[in-house]
Amino acid sequence: MLQGKRIIIGISGGIAAYKSLILIRLFKKAGAEVRVVTTENALWFVTRVSLESLSQNKIYDKVFGPENDYTTEHISLTDWADCVVVAPATANVIGKLANGIADDALSTSLIAFDKKIFIAPAMNCKMFDHFAVQRNLSFLKENDIEIVEPASGYLACGYEGKGRMEEPEEIFARVQHFFSAQDGALKGKKVLITAGPTHEPIDPVRFVGNYSTGKMGFAIASELAQRGAEVTLIAGPVSLPTPPGQINRIDVCTADEMFVAASRAFPGMDAAILTAAVADFKPALTAPQKIKKNDSLPEIKLVLNPDILASLGKAKKESQVLAGFALETDNELANAQKKLKDKNLDFIVLNSLNDAEAGFGGDNNKVTIIDNKNHISGFELKSKKQVAVDVVDKLSQLL
Ligand code: CTP
Repeated sequence: MLQGKRIIIGISGGIAAYKSLILIRLFKKAGAEVRVVTTENALWFVTRVSLESLSQNKIYDKVFGPENDYTTEHISLTDWADCVVVAPATANVIGKLANGIADDALSTSLIAFDKKIFIAPAMNCKMFDHFAVQRNLSFLKENDIEIVEPASGYLACGYEGKGRMEEPEEIFARVQHFFSAQDGALKGKKVLITAGPTHEPIDPVRFVGNYSTGKMGFAIASELAQRGAEVTLIAGPVSLPTPPGQINRIDVCTADEMFVAASRAFPGMDAAILTAAVADFKPALTAPQKIKKNDSLPEIKLVLNPDILASLGKAKKESQVLAGFALETDNELANAQKKLKDKNLDFIVLNSLNDAEAGFGGDNNKVTIIDNKNHISGFELKSKKQVAVDVVDKLSQLL
């Protein structure tokens, strides 16, 4: 996806500049071409030799000079590039860009650039919170500049707070995401998603259910829509807004309702990813009135719900791609491989409840993707948004 893309990495003078070396390597490894533009101060933190060795290009740090190819290198360079990533971006460089100031190689290049710009701020938390910096960042956002928000934590100045540059891997993922969305690799593809829990009524006020919030499925639906897919999103009872884009949302409550909606939609789909935490069991009978406490203690007989994924696996045509999730607490890999085979899937996304911070409810997840050729890719703990990127990348490959 980044193969052959032309990327300018802009580096300004902050201690986080050492992380930009890692960023350059990530882009080079992904097959991108990298040119580096620095401020004068950036070269206090990283050396010209390191930057030139890693990028395999000479750096651009002076608007005018005998070493430049043209006296208007800021124009030829910015014509060449597909995107600019400023990491780290100091309060100074953010201020210059927001105010149209062009007085060195980096600020001049930014003003000359009319394509996508990413800004990864890095500074002391008091500086980051300053009203002028916040106003400048808001203005840049309004003008379609993507701000990779800094993280909170220990800062080089000894303060704890928001201002630490986001990790290179996260900045890289944001750029990768931009290009994959731009390439519109899934344009016109029809994809079915199930998401959230199902609620199986015991009586009009109680149900059998689980802790799923639907965040993972909604993140995948959003990612697909951003890449041009036409998404049918069958959602169990969740309190999430429908993400923007071409998403046809069908709200259901029970596994039976989800089963009917998914079975109806699937024949017209190119692919389906079933993320829903379907309740495996439902009460055999639903009481028509609320069961009162003073009645005798109720015995609730449970019966099996339909397995939606297995049913779609049986109906699957050669041209369709079908994927599921497996949430496991023990013997994770073997259980997921068994589900992949039994349900006739093309790939399965395994998450383990043993991984701290991953799973139901939270914003992060840690997954392993296993395909039907038994290729296994393990990913580190990431935001659900980023996990969605990995899952949709896998689907794109198979489609
Ligand atoms: N799934 C489904 N319908 C069900 C149960 C599960 O479509 N009735 C799908 C889920 O959406 C998920 C996958 O099957 O994509 C695996 O779900 P999981 O709960 O991990 O596995 P089960 O098949 O229910 O097996 P078990 O609960 O025994 O682990």
